[in-house]
Amino acid sequence: AKYTLVDKETCIACGACGAAAPDIFDYDDEGLAENILEGDDNRGVVEVPEELYEELEDAHTGCPTGSIKISSQPMDGDPDKAE
Ligand code: F3S
Repeated sequence: AKYTLVDKETCIACGACGAAAPDIFDYDDEGLAENILEGDDNRGVVEVPEELYEELEDAHTGCPTGSIKISSQPMDGDPDKAE
């Protein structure tokens, strides 16, 4: 399983992730990215559907600040739980 969240402390609102993975990431009022999977609330607790793994990987590798966090376990909103 894969879980993801955006570390908003390091996101610089560059916008690459929403372009690469529009089904997973969108932006808040400040332009900072967040996980929009239903029920996730950018906590990294909802399993990313397998058909979106490629998008997720593209967003992960494309983020210039490493703010797209991924884990095989739920992260409960804590970016430090990323793997
Ligand atoms: Fe922010 Fe990285 Fe996306 S800087 S807007 S999380 S590509």
